[in-house]
Amino acid sequence: SHRVMLGPLVAAIDQGTSSTRFLVFNSKTAELLSHHQVEIKQSFPKEGWVEEDPKEILQSVYECMERTCEKLTQLNIDISNIKAIGVTNQRETTLVWDKETGEPLYNAIVWLDLRTQSTVERLINKTPGRNKNHLKHKTGLPISTYFSAVKLRWLMDNVREVHEAVVSRRAMFGTVDSWLIWCLTGGKSGGVHCTDVTNASRTMLFNIHTLDWDPELCRYFGVPMEILPRVRSSSEIYGLMKSGALSGIPISGCLGDQSAALVGQMCFQDGQAKNTYGTGCFLLRNTGAKPVMSDHGLLTTVAYKLGRDKPACYALEGSVAIAGAVVRWLQDNLGIIESSEELEELAASVGTSYGCYFVPAFSGLYAPYWEPSARGIICGLTQFTNKRHLAFAALEAVCFQTREILDAMNQDSGIPLTQLQVDGGMTSNRLLMQLQADILCIPVVKPSMPETTALGAAMAAGAAEGVSVWSLSPEDLSEVTSEKFEPQINPEESELRYARWKKAVQKSMNWET
Ligand code: G3P
Repeated sequence: SHRVMLGPLVAAIDQGTSSTRFLVFNSKTAELLSHHQVEIKQSFPKEGWVEEDPKEILQSVYECMERTCEKLTQLNIDISNIKAIGVTNQRETTLVWDKETGEPLYNAIVWLDLRTQSTVERLINKTPGRNKNHLKHKTGLPISTYFSAVKLRWLMDNVREVHEAVVSRRAMFGTVDSWLIWCLTGGKSGGVHCTDVTNASRTMLFNIHTLDWDPELCRYFGVPMEILPRVRSSSEIYGLMKSGALSGIPISGCLGDQSAALVGQMCFQDGQAKNTYGTGCFLLRNTGAKPVMSDHGLLTTVAYKLGRDKPACYALEGSVAIAGAVVRWLQDNLGIIESSEELEELAASVGTSYGCYFVPAFSGLYAPYWEPSARGIICGLTQFTNKRHLAFAALEAVCFQTREILDAMNQDSGIPLTQLQVDGGMTSNRLLMQLQADILCIPVVKPSMPETTALGAAMAAGAAEGVSVWSLSPEDLSEVTSEKFEPQINPEESELRYARWKKAVQKSMNWET
């Protein structure tokens, strides 16, 4: 039945913080034909440290590809119709490997990791006026544990293998996209060492105006430029798959996951925005051809550059470190739930936090505070509070954090958003979506196809191969929209709760001193 309407197929590798996926779309309809997902283990070797195994990440990609191909074959869909593969990934996560052996020289240091907190504090103290925005004019970013440069510095200073490989010119640095593309295109026998402008813009070594590595930034962090990947656009042929069932197919799209979601949500116009609820939560607003610097704690980042000769587009970004991660914490660390569905049920059974506020500042606070020394707190407890209220407070925390980002975004741009386009795993939680609309006091709109991150990467890959994935006009787009959550509580109540939340946030900060 499929065969009649099948156009060329486009695929995406979506390597997120918590899981890896491979997805195949019909380019004619943007319909998701098949996919497979594998969870990724995280290790926490010391307090505040978060690592993942680069080989497990790579293996999970191969596994997802193989399983998806099997499923397609069962559906009677010929995998030779796959014309292009895009890569999209958790950003900032930092890897160093040996180009001669092909072996990683340490685990991947995950973006959430806090081991560089003291380095970051030292760097900020050295700047004139202790200004964390000292490098912002070039990078769009505050000096923070979040970005790759400090993680790379830590690896060079603390891991002998990394130091030695750098000295003997065998080291390659990359974010997850670079590691995967290098391995998939042949690794030690001819792999392509590259990244795209969106991923590069998260390293703190990249000048977002010139769109190239910046020698001054590299000197500042003591990073030798020869270990850096070549920076390419987000849509061009980087290389061909070297092995497996998809051998010979071009890898021709590459975007950090938040950029890919912006593309997948078709936010191509200046002013359009989306919020993705993954491990963290990231609200990006397209600002067109101009990088706009925030006065309210947001990041300026490269949104996409869809072709070598195409202009770069920029975005303002509000990054929240902990969103879905709080669900995993309640499950793995407290053991009060066994699944994310159970969290929704628990929270829905009370419908209130009963005055309990939960600030999950596990990795410090990101936007708009950028306070690495903040730590999580749960406050407002009484004898009456139980795990149901705590579950509700955890969901509310995700919504309040988004509200803070939205406020900053509206202040920076002067044009308030009238609705919020959302996507990501947590958007299947209907209680969360309703709460979000209540707390933002604007409608929340969720597309029917939730895999917008993968779609964006597949679109970029298709475009480089002359396969345009969507032919959707704005009218078609409104049909794609499946669900709209309208605010239901009165704005005064919403403001009152939000004001309490802000008090709780203040308590999570400065309490070491
Ligand atoms: O900046 C980190 C971000 O790219 C991770 O996304 O979806 O894995 O939370 P996610």
